[in-house]
Amino acid sequence: MMSMQLSQRSPRGLFDPYYVPDLLLYRDRELESITGVCKDSYESEYGVNCLVHGIGGVGMTVFSRYFLTRIIPGSFDAHTVYVDAKGKDVLEIVGELNDAIHRKENKPITVAFDLDVLWMQFKRMASDAAKRTVFVIDNIDERNEDVYSKLARLSKEIKASTIGVLNSHDYRMLTKLPATQMAYDFEVHLDTYSQSQLYDIIRMRVEDTFPLGLTEDILRYMTDIVCEFDASKPKTSIEALKVLWPLAQRGQEIDSDAVRAATAKIVTLGQDQDYMDTVDTISMNDYMTALVLEVLAEHLMRYRTETYIDRQTLNENVQIKCEELGVKYTHSDIEKSLQTLIFESIVFESGYSHNLLYVLVPPDVLYDSALSIRRELTRGK
Ligand SMILES: Nc1ncnc2c1ncn2[C@@H]1O[C@H](COP(=O)(O)OP(=O)(O)O)[C@@H](O)[C@H]1O
Ligand SMILES: [Mg+2]
Repeated sequence: MMSMQLSQRSPRGLFDPYYVPDLLLYRDRELESITGVCKDSYESEYGVNCLVHGIGGVGMTVFSRYFLTRIIPGSFDAHTVYVDAKGKDVLEIVGELNDAIHRKENKPITVAFDLDVLWMQFKRMASDAAKRTVFVIDNIDERNEDVYSKLARLSKEIKASTIGVLNSHDYRMLTKLPATQMAYDFEVHLDTYSQSQLYDIIRMRVEDTFPLGLTEDILRYMTDIVCEFDASKPKTSIEALKVLWPLAQRGQEIDSDAVRAATAKIVTLGQDQDYMDTVDTISMNDYMTALVLEVLAEHLMRYRTETYIDRQTLNENVQIKCEELGVKYTHSDIEKSLQTLIFESIVFESGYSHNLLYVLVPPDVLYDSALSIRRELTRGK
């Protein structure tokens, strides 16, 4: 009975690269403008071509698919065809266009392996179709740019629309060089999300697909890491969720260790050993910094599901520790030590609030080295 329940909650949205959520968040303006342009062209019977671009992972695919599947059907009566060109040669792409338009028209497909024959079949079917079409070609790059250009020219002829989707790098290369033929009337730039927008996007996905949800702290921690190290890309957050999903499914508690493991690929600070070297050099002559780090790490070790410590708690804990050890301190000493740790990228301030502090090295590792440095410094006194 358990397994039935689980399979019903199969996380389609998490593992399907073409998943379209019920809501596309924070893209109202962009959706409105592309809808306006395509609807006008449809109703006034002229072809229009458009480029959608942004950094890879920002949500270009989901934007174009949401537009095709959710917006167009409610706005105007066009056929919609989506083809992902990634890694495909020209023959495959034209073959898919041809298949798709035949399917829309309920016409049997005649098999052809010759590019010119395929293109002619496609062209005929697209021109004679009962409705005009909005085409999307996703992942345009220099190898398949020709197909986009050809389709864009055809669109003008047959009063259809073509939307090309490409990442910023290919966009710059293909549109700014004088040699390219890339033709478009209109473009939509998809900007990166703010920290809180990214948080909302992944929270929505968690609600869609996670068996028992994840705590707010875990989601924030993940968002903080993706914002700090991977340009706020939703794709990276979703990749991390994919790693966490099977753990959650097995009933394992998702703690900060799990999030660190799931995002380890994007965190480029290197190996634990490098960290320890940094910790060594900063703390060698600085008893207070070693102590602050020790206290901070100790707190995060004790409370595994707490991914942050706030400055107030840290201050109080340092104060207690200093009293225990009979060490004199001032408030500004603590603040100075913390600034050093932040500057050396050992401690990070959350993008949600500079009051919240987090680390990336497992707290146990930090704790051990901070403690041993402090002891050494004590002995050396
Ligand atoms: N505005 C958004 N609302 C909901 N989900 C989003 C949004 N933007 C991106 N996503 C999700 O982020 C992930 C990456 O998006 P995708 O469209 O595949 O990126 P790209 O094509 O730019 O590499 C997908 O799982 C997508 O559903
Ligand atoms: Mg994509």
